[in-house]
Amino acid sequence: MSTFFKGRHFITTQDFSKEEIDLLLDLSKELKMKFVVDEPTPWLLYKTVFMIFFDESTRTRNSIEAGITQLGGHAHFLTPDKMQIAHGETAADTAKVLSRFGHAIAIRACKFAQGNNYIRTCAVNSCVPVLNLQDDVYHPMQALADLMTIRERFGENLRGLKVGISWAYAESHLKPLSVPQSQLLLFSKYGMEITLAYPEKFDLMPDIVEKARQNAAKSGAKISITHSMEEAFEKADVVIPKNWGGFFVSQNEKEILEETRKHTDWICDERKMKLAKPGVIYMHALPADRGNEVADSVIDGPSSVVYDEAENRLHTAKAVMALTMGGR
Ligand code: CP
Repeated sequence: MSTFFKGRHFITTQDFSKEEIDLLLDLSKELKMKFVVDEPTPWLLYKTVFMIFFDESTRTRNSIEAGITQLGGHAHFLTPDKMQIAHGETAADTAKVLSRFGHAIAIRACKFAQGNNYIRTCAVNSCVPVLNLQDDVYHPMQALADLMTIRERFGENLRGLKVGISWAYAESHLKPLSVPQSQLLLFSKYGMEITLAYPEKFDLMPDIVEKARQNAAKSGAKISITHSMEEAFEKADVVIPKNWGGFFVSQNEKEILEETRKHTDWICDERKMKLAKPGVIYMHALPADRGNEVADSVIDGPSSVVYDEAENRLHTAKAVMALTMGGR
């Protein structure tokens, strides 16, 4: 198995083998244990991460910032309006300069049809790892934390685990496709039985679904697509209902919202949870649109693991940084 991570970009889990993901998760578990017993982990002493956030964040920013501090390094929180990006400085020039100053560039850029291109342009122009903190296509940090949470509940052999990934109604903002797409890509490496549910017109990107099907052909995973939320919940071990924007409906936000409002019944409530297995876990990357995506009684109820899932963002982020910025 390759243990070579140093200097690699972390843009999508597709760039890593299952064995490499397992190693990342094993290290995340070790870092979690050390955090619990307050054992210092000064593995990235004096190293700098530049974080560029084009979009808002609670979990991602703070897991990276707290994570690098706990590893002995430091993060700069940067927003384009305070950088020369606001005056048109290119992604290439930004990456060439920042990569000469520090040890990683971490970027959140979720604008549809632009974010991933920006991150990839930075990556080819950076001499240090570029870490994807969510773009329009991928959110690998989230998927990794989700997989860690699932392993904590169901063990390491996840073959045949029944997972429902479903669209859910929300009013808060147009959420990127990147969370369900990254879950689909990662879980399909692990032989899970995945049901993907969404209303018509809320498709994920076809090339991502195709890549997930290729993963499934290798791992023995099964992927089925339905337009019924209930089907995703039927006898599921794990349910992950979450909104994403209908970016294939239109490029016009008003038209997407009009289409979204036709599906207010796509809420994760107790009736739907009863369709799942008795030990089902409810997951959500957060922030959740309470009362629209999910009923309070579910997200605050006994099946919910959302705060474990959020905590695991810290441990997995530390593992990604420790291996790509340090390591061999
Ligand atoms: N799940 C997630 O990425 O949360 P933030 O948007 O708060 O970073």
